[in-house]
Amino acid sequence: MGKMQATNDHWNANLYDIKHAFISQYGNHLVELLAPQKGERILDLGCGTGDLANKLLKSECEIIGVDQSPNMIQQAKEKYPHIDFSVQDATNLSYQNEFDAVFSNAVLHWIKEPSAALHCIFHSLKQGGRFVAEFGGKGNVQTITNEIMRQFASLGMTEQAEKFPWYYPSIGEYSALMEETGFRVTFAQHIDRPTPLDGENGLRNWIEMFGGTMFEGVTKETREIIITKVEQHLKEHLYIDGQWVADYKRIRVIGVKE
Ligand code: BEZ
Repeated sequence: MGKMQATNDHWNANLYDIKHAFISQYGNHLVELLAPQKGERILDLGCGTGDLANKLLKSECEIIGVDQSPNMIQQAKEKYPHIDFSVQDATNLSYQNEFDAVFSNAVLHWIKEPSAALHCIFHSLKQGGRFVAEFGGKGNVQTITNEIMRQFASLGMTEQAEKFPWYYPSIGEYSALMEETGFRVTFAQHIDRPTPLDGENGLRNWIEMFGGTMFEGVTKETREIIITKVEQHLKEHLYIDGQWVADYKRIRVIGVKE
């Protein structure tokens, strides 16, 4: 029997683990950038179903995982009962001077109040602590989102554009916000990271998993028509050697609380 999922939570943790494991796998690079040290206390902000938190444990650090999704946290606790996971909002953390590092993979593009999150992260860190993050940067998945918006516009559904769920800053913009918060930015990078999506239905699965909020209030039938048209129009651009490849662009940053 499938696991119970909280219904007011748009994240499906089972589907995330089965079809989108690549997100944690790409996070391995960020773990290297974090370079966790034995004995450090580390906050994994937006830990999802806990795979990277579990990987961090191998460095013999103490790891706390938080995520806004109850479904993700429930699954993380079941998979890794030895780790301290809890449901928390990145813009409303109450930690004060507690962590040697705050680590965040593939999460901050969901937070439309970046300064509120940065303030929480800053206050969570000890003096000298570091913030190491990767998330969608300016232009991320733009080929896909432009086409979805074009389809909404062609049906006169202009209000859907306001439901665009992501924040994709440039490194200039995000570094400036980090500095305003008090961080010294020691590293900032904006890279192309073409990302293969699994199987014939890879693009459709991606849109259904991550773009769900854009389709709020849209009937199932209309959603089906739009996604099918998006697939048809993007095939020549994003279907490469028998596989969908999403046009991810990522930013990676390190900031130090001095
Ligand atoms: C990203 O990792 O860049 C991403 C993942 C899902 C939705 C949007 C962006």
